[in-house]
Amino acid sequence: MSTTEQRVAVVTGGARGIGAATAVRLAAEGRAVAVIDLDEAACKDTVEKITAAGGKAIAVGADVSDEAQVEAAVARVVAELGAPTILVNNAGVLRDNLLFKMSVSDWDTVLNVHLRGSFLMTKAVQKHMVDAGFGRVVNLSSSSALGNRGQANYSAAKAGLQGFTKTLAIELGKFGITANAVAPGFIATDMTAATAARVGMGFEEFKAAAATQIPVARVGEPDDIANAIAFFTGEAAGFVSGQVLYVAGGPLD
Ligand SMILES: NC(=O)c1ccc[n+]([C@@H]2O[C@H](COP(=O)([O-])OP(=O)(O)OC[C@H]3O[C@@H](n4cnc5c(N)ncnc54)[C@H](O)[C@@H]3O)[C@@H](O)[C@H]2O)c1
Repeated sequence: MSTTEQRVAVVTGGARGIGAATAVRLAAEGRAVAVIDLDEAACKDTVEKITAAGGKAIAVGADVSDEAQVEAAVARVVAELGAPTILVNNAGVLRDNLLFKMSVSDWDTVLNVHLRGSFLMTKAVQKHMVDAGFGRVVNLSSSSALGNRGQANYSAAKAGLQGFTKTLAIELGKFGITANAVAPGFIATDMTAATAARVGMGFEEFKAAAATQIPVARVGEPDDIANAIAFFTGEAAGFVSGQVLYVAGGPLD
């Protein structure tokens, strides 16, 4: 790659929250960014933020759990921005419930978006990384991978992503491709706001309660995660692969 050529990054679930902060951060680092989310129009704010700051971005609507939509989305990225060599598998959903009340469809939805979605996106993008002899994959795991009440589906998906990440690192390393996982703790986004609403708490009260359990005495912000993802996707991080980084304001076990 010549020094004038821009690397193309794909961020799924980039319409809001951690994905939006990551797209903006990667663009600030000079990447052209494809912002993928379920609804193309919902990506507009993220794309406008990037272009207003002088960056390059496009909005792409796709459901990451749908093979045909993923293939069409990646083809659009290649046509409009160029071959992607950075992939952040961030799209996610919650369908929390205790095991005995968890429906099969809530299990399937969560596993499909996180695991199937990350598999389909990585499969579609990896050939471009292999061709380029360079690639950076970052998968969003979670502190819930260690187990969390009410999240049998989500914790299984997030633990599964750690195994997926390590296997990608082993298989793709010889092509200049690294794969790492970032596992956030509590981050203030619409996802955690929805959890607060579900348990009948105001979001401020919910965040304050969470902060009492976090050593740095605050909840995380999307930029805290974007920062870790920027490190893993950096040009200099080529010897860091197959790792899971908990970004949770303190140690977890
Ligand atoms: N917020 C947290 O505390 C936290 C903690 C640990 C891990 N995470 C993970 O970080 C990622 C981002 O979380 P967030 O808090 O920003 O969530 P969010 O709900 O604010 O944003 C998720 C985005 O993903 C999109 N999305 C959902 N299903 C999709 C699909 N099938 N195809 C394409 N896009 C889809 C949504 O439309 C949304 O824009 C998720 O993978 C989540 O599991 C979040």
